[in-house]
Amino acid sequence: MSVHSKLYEGKAKILYTTDDPEVLLADFKDDATAFNAQKRGTILGKGQINCSISSQLFKQLELNGIKTHYIDSPSPNQMRVKSVKILPLEVVVRNIAAGSLCQQTGLAVGTILQPPLVEFYYKNDPLGDPLLTRDRLLLLELATAEQVDAITNLALQINKFLISFWWQCGITLVDFKLEFGLDSQQQLLLADEISPDTCRLWNTAEADPNRRVMDKDRFRRDLGNVEDAYQEVLQRVLQAVESQN
Ligand code: TMP
Repeated sequence: MSVHSKLYEGKAKILYTTDDPEVLLADFKDDATAFNAQKRGTILGKGQINCSISSQLFKQLELNGIKTHYIDSPSPNQMRVKSVKILPLEVVVRNIAAGSLCQQTGLAVGTILQPPLVEFYYKNDPLGDPLLTRDRLLLLELATAEQVDAITNLALQINKFLISFWWQCGITLVDFKLEFGLDSQQQLLLADEISPDTCRLWNTAEADPNRRVMDKDRFRRDLGNVEDAYQEVLQRVLQAVESQN
């Protein structure tokens, strides 16, 4: 596979075109940003770790009937993906209250959310990725009503799978963000990545509110030991996948 030109550079990944117009190469970076890139840093080894974790999770999701953009991983920090048009939506699923939900509503961190909350944010950096209502989303034509319903169902299905997968890793899935895209056949595919950058993951065996954090909140909140936490998540994912085979 020959790699052509850089198509797009985001905060955590670079996308390259390939000789197949239906296939892109995603290169995962060690760069880390938070608060709409107001905070910047590097998490050593993050590119390889997030690419490996995402690859494993996409493979598992495919086995469970969820269609994703994942093709394969030709090197530790690179993923071949199906070319999709990304919908400008950040789809957040929350099982436990944390982060912006608590800041914006006053709900106590740790409140169990049953049923899980599915939220849509406008993927738009200049606007600061604002929370959308369904009507605003439709008004802006960011997706059709049918797509919103399909995405909500998929997000809840993915949540069920991920809760159980992370549980096998001794990790509590607090919340996470998904992105979806449309392929050349207008088929909805799960895209982007699923990693400690895009999930809140708490060590189930740990009660301390800082020590339990195994995700990008360690970087966002300057909790230290960021690389160790990411590495530990990867080891647990690989063990869980291994024990299934
Ligand atoms: P929030 O509580 O800050 O809204 O974040 C909810 C979830 O979404 C959390 O798991 C982190 C993830 N997330 C991203 O992946 N990218 C983002 O830009 C933001 C703000 C959150």
